[in-house]
Amino acid sequence: TQALRLGIAGLGTVGVGVVRIVRRHADLLQARTGRPIQITAVSARDAGKDRGVNLSDYAWETDPVALAQRDDIDVFVELMGGENGPAKASVEAALASGKDVVTANKALLAIHGQELAEMAEAAGRVIRFEAAVAGGIPVIKSLTEGLAGNEITRVMGVMNGTCNYILTRMQSQRQGYNALFDECAQLGYLEADPNLDVGGIDAAHKLALLASIAFGTKPNFDGIEIEGIQQISLDDIDQAHDMGYRIKLLGVAQRTARGLEQRMQPCLVPSDSPLGQLEGGTNMVVIEGDAVEQVVLRGPGAGEGPTASAVMGDVCDLARGLQIPTFGRPASSLQDAVPALTGRP
Ligand code: NAP
Ligand code: HSE
Repeated sequence: TQALRLGIAGLGTVGVGVVRIVRRHADLLQARTGRPIQITAVSARDAGKDRGVNLSDYAWETDPVALAQRDDIDVFVELMGGENGPAKASVEAALASGKDVVTANKALLAIHGQELAEMAEAAGRVIRFEAAVAGGIPVIKSLTEGLAGNEITRVMGVMNGTCNYILTRMQSQRQGYNALFDECAQLGYLEADPNLDVGGIDAAHKLALLASIAFGTKPNFDGIEIEGIQQISLDDIDQAHDMGYRIKLLGVAQRTARGLEQRMQPCLVPSDSPLGQLEGGTNMVVIEGDAVEQVVLRGPGAGEGPTASAVMGDVCDLARGLQIPTFGRPASSLQDAVPALTGRP
C-alpha cells in the first residue's frame, strides 16, 4: 500500500508532538488507516535547534513554501501559526500544488478560512483543522459526523486553556496574574502573541470556526463581541465565589430571531455546574441540537500531546481517503453570515 507522506511546517510545541506520535505509533496508525503514515520533510526557522526528537530521517526545508510544493509529500501540515505571512503563503502553495492541508491555525482560518476553503474546493483538495478548535477535543468531527442529523441551535464553551488556567488558579491558589501567565508558557499553552489568549481573541477565532461549522455560515470573526480577562481581579473572583459563581471566559454562538449572536466574554457560571467546575487548561464545548438535545465535550484544550492528537485524527482521515470538506460542507454552499449582532441584549 502507498504511504501517506507528510510535510510538516513548524516544529514547536505542536509540530514536535506530531513527529513524536508518527514515530511512536507507526504500527498503530497503519493498522487503523490501512497504510503507512510517513514524514518526508520538515521545516522551521532554526535548523540547528535541538528539539528533543530525531529529525535526521527527514529532508529539511528552511522555506515552508518550498516544503509545501515538494513532489514527495501528499499532505502539508501547517503548524507555524499566524494569520498571514508564511502560514497563509504556504497553505496556498500547498493547495495550488495539489496537496491536502492539515492545520492547527485558528487565526489563519478565522480570518481567511472561507477564501482558503474555496481555493481548496476549486483544487479538489481539503483543509482539515480539528486541532484549531478546543485542542484535543474532537469537536469538529462531532459536529460534522456524529451530530450531522441535527439542526444545531447553540454552541458554547470554554475554549482557551490559558485563560481557564489563570482564572481557576487565581481562585484556588490566590496566585497573581503574572506568575500564572509564566506557568502557562511552561505548559506550552501560549500563542506566539499571548495577548491573543488573555484578550479573548484566540478563543474568538475558535468560536468563529465552531459557529461556521455548526450553522453552515461563513466564518464571521468580525461579528463577535470580544472581551478578555485582563481586567479580572482577585476581588472579582472572590465576589463571584461568595455568590456561588465562578468567572469563565465563555464563548456563545446561537441563532436568534434577529440573526447570529456570537460573544466571547468573561461570564458568571454557577460554581457547581460542569462549566463552573472546569479546571486548569481544560476546555469544554456544549453543543445543543434539535434531536440530540445537549452534548457536553470536555478535554485538554492545549499542549503538545492533546493538540498533536487532534492533528493526527485529521491525518488519519486523509489516509483513509475521507474527503470531508473544510466546514463539513462545500465552501461554496456556506451561506452569507446572517446579520451579526453586537451589543448586549
Ligand atoms: P510554537 O511552539 O511557537 O512553534 C512554531 C513553529 O513554527 C516553530 O518551530 C518555528 O520555528 C516555526 N516557524 C515560525 N515562523 C516560521 C517561519 N517564518 N518559517 C518557518 N518556520 C517558522 O507554536 P505552537 O504552540 O506549536 O503552535 C503552532 C500552531 O498550533 C499555531 O497556529 C497555534 O495557534 C496552534 N495551536 C497551538 C496549540 C498549543 O497548545 N500550543 C493548541 C492548538 C493550536 P523555530 O522553532 O525554528 O523558531
Ligand atoms: N493558546 C491556546 C490556549 C492554545 O491557551 O488555549 C490552544 O489553542
